[in-house]
Amino acid sequence: MSNDVVVSAQGLTKRFGSQLVFEDVSLDVHKSEVVAIIGPSGAGKSTFIRCINHLHPFDGGTLELLGHTLHGGLKSPSRAVLRDIRTRVGMVFQTFNLFPHLTVMENIILAPLDVKKVPREKAVALARELLDLVGLEHKKDMYPKRLSGGEQQRVALCRALAMEPEVMLFDEPTSMLDPELVGEVLSAIQRLAKQGMTMILVTHEMTFAKEVADTVVIMADHRVAEMGPARQVLESPQTERAQQFLRRVLEPVETMEELSAAAGQGGED
Ligand SMILES: Nc1ncnc2c1ncn2[C@@H]1O[C@H](COP(=O)(O)OP(=O)(O)OP(=O)(O)O)[C@@H](O)[C@H]1O
Ligand SMILES: [Mg+2]
Repeated sequence: MSNDVVVSAQGLTKRFGSQLVFEDVSLDVHKSEVVAIIGPSGAGKSTFIRCINHLHPFDGGTLELLGHTLHGGLKSPSRAVLRDIRTRVGMVFQTFNLFPHLTVMENIILAPLDVKKVPREKAVALARELLDLVGLEHKKDMYPKRLSGGEQQRVALCRALAMEPEVMLFDEPTSMLDPELVGEVLSAIQRLAKQGMTMILVTHEMTFAKEVADTVVIMADHRVAEMGPARQVLESPQTERAQQFLRRVLEPVETMEELSAAAGQGGED
């Protein structure tokens, strides 16, 4: 693994019972690289990124990350290895899951105090910096229920960043938000990218993928359909499967009539 490769998946395969989710997925992610994973529903995108921080074990292939090498299908990694991976890989999900009984600040400093034993003043200072990055310094003493969805998701982002992760994983961080709140979360993520954070992000936001990601991976039919520089993959996809998927998502169905017709074709996109 070359020096600046942070995550390297080689021939990763995952099943749930007898159901194949994906096979032979290989991907190298370099330091400060932003990788966007797109593809139809059920393609295994969420499962793949959850395999990276071992929220799901995988069945075949090898995963190298942050100095650890994990092999599929063998006994699971030791608790010490899992703990090391979980503290160094941050994750933001579709839903924010902030602790409702804790303020914004308390939500953010909880893990640094508890898990990393960071001194309180240091944790608070970092939390303020992070809140400033996402434009929410003034909300630090509020409780989550008084925040909009977009604000809650930006706090969730700060909470993950407070552990000073070396890699960030995102699973459709904006898909539960009202359209007018999507932009504020995406621009916070873009700012993070500009600071050099290594990120793997599952998204349906094609403009974001094109403008912010270095690399785009299209997953479909249980495998990587195409992968390469973002613009190249999105603007001139080479494989038939990638072309088919992108046609669907880039040319949105305009009327309900067309929508029904498309649904009638039984497509999974
Ligand atoms: N915990 C689980 N147990 C069993 N099957 C699962 C589990 N999680 C996901 N699956 C199955 O694995 C397949 C891939 O799911 P996954 O959620 O990874 O897809 P996805 O590409 O993220 O889809 P979407 O775009 O809808 O989020 C699906 O067929 C799903 O039903
Ligand atoms: Mg998903």
